[in-house]
Amino acid sequence: MSSPVTAVIVGAGHRGVGYANLSIHKPEMLKIVGVADPDELRRRKAAEKFGVPEEGLYETAQEMAQVPQFADAVINGTMDLDHVPTALPLLEAGYDMLLEKPICPTREELLTLLQTTRRTGRKLMIGHVLRYAPFYVAIKQRLLAGEIGDVYAVHSTEAVSYHHMAAAFIRGRWAHRSTNPMLLAKCCHDLDLIAWYYSGVRPAYVSSMGARTVFCEANAPEGSGTRCLVDCDVEADCAYSARKNYLEQKLWAPYSWEAIEHIEEPTDEDRERSLREDNPFGRCVYRTDGDVMDHQSVIIEFENGSTASHDMITGTPRPGRTVHIYGTEGEIEGFMEDGAFVVRHADARAGEEYSEEPVDVSVTMDGHGGGDLRLVEDFVAAVRGQERSISSTEILDSVYGHLIAYAADEAMTQRKVVEIEDLG
Ligand SMILES: NC(=O)c1ccc[n+]([C@@H]2O[C@H](COP(=O)([O-])OP(=O)(O)OC[C@H]3O[C@@H](n4cnc5c(N)ncnc54)[C@H](O)[C@@H]3O)[C@@H](O)[C@H]2O)c1
Repeated sequence: MSSPVTAVIVGAGHRGVGYANLSIHKPEMLKIVGVADPDELRRRKAAEKFGVPEEGLYETAQEMAQVPQFADAVINGTMDLDHVPTALPLLEAGYDMLLEKPICPTREELLTLLQTTRRTGRKLMIGHVLRYAPFYVAIKQRLLAGEIGDVYAVHSTEAVSYHHMAAAFIRGRWAHRSTNPMLLAKCCHDLDLIAWYYSGVRPAYVSSMGARTVFCEANAPEGSGTRCLVDCDVEADCAYSARKNYLEQKLWAPYSWEAIEHIEEPTDEDRERSLREDNPFGRCVYRTDGDVMDHQSVIIEFENGSTASHDMITGTPRPGRTVHIYGTEGEIEGFMEDGAFVVRHADARAGEEYSEEPVDVSVTMDGHGGGDLRLVEDFVAAVRGQERSISSTEILDSVYGHLIAYAADEAMTQRKVVEIEDLG
């Protein structure tokens, strides 16, 4: 049996540590030998959890890149704006890398990363975990088998639930358009899936429209205030109540308690006090300084004339992703959260309009439909030079998925159709 791939965690936050958990579930595949994080508490906790010795600990990725390479790969779980500045020196130092999505907020940085990856010959995989969810794997298998012929149109939607929207994009750290346009931050998964269905075909033209019309002060209910637990008369009836969401339903921990992460074992009183005082999760969702769009649609024309459209809708009661793929010989339609899709074919028999095959993929739905750890396993296979799964991220598809998001923002703001260049 081969020895485990060795990796360092760069950015020991929620996602970096989550991916590194594969080393606990499958120590024969992955061993964590280093951690870089400027946050001393996080660095220490990760070192303890994964048994990393003192000499493997660094304050930053950049510092780690200056010592001779001491692992095969990097799990890069830094925040969006830190991805490229932390990735470049480590790719240059010889590490392969699993890098979280979204890759980066600008086209210029993305192209620098692509050039560096190509020049150094390193393996770079992006955290497009949905490609590993059984639902999407099963769909891709059928497309590859030619079951619906050549794909010429795709329509997908992502409904971001009211509590997810509030936690990440209204009260959380992905609230500002200048650094985190929401289509990029949230739907880069969906745009990547579209690029993956059409793998190898360039998205050529992009158009988009969107707005922020829900999470605005004009929609604040009468009697509401600035903080749910301080000056709101309607808190008890509001679906966005910070008390309900974070103290009672206990949604979105640990994000909701980042503000008191320095307290080793916070009590309920500590949590409630933070929501009253300075925890951003205690704010009224209708009165924040955030400015991301709360709904946006994008239309794409590929170079071979195929098309795709995606709708991002937020603040919905039920979260979920739908997909409808149309091919020359049939169609596939499904809802990921149901763990099921159907494959339809036109049926020329008398009395029949079409035949329909239901496909059940309702296996484990944890961690992005079960995708998170499967992605790390595929990354390990890639680093070992073994055969990769059909989900394996082709870097050019990931790049095109992101270029669609940047182009959509430009198209929406400037009310125009934006062309995407050939990077093949
Ligand atoms: N794949 C998904 O579906 C998915 C889901 C949620 C978040 N994300 C993405 O995952 C990424 C990480 O999110 P998170 O919530 O885990 O973030 P986090 O803030 O919990 O972790 C980031 C860590 O990086 C550290 N860091 C900052 N600068 C550094 C440097 N120069 N060198 C080393 N470490 C540094 C920070 O101190 C922090 O501990 C983000 O890009 C986010 O958008 C992806």
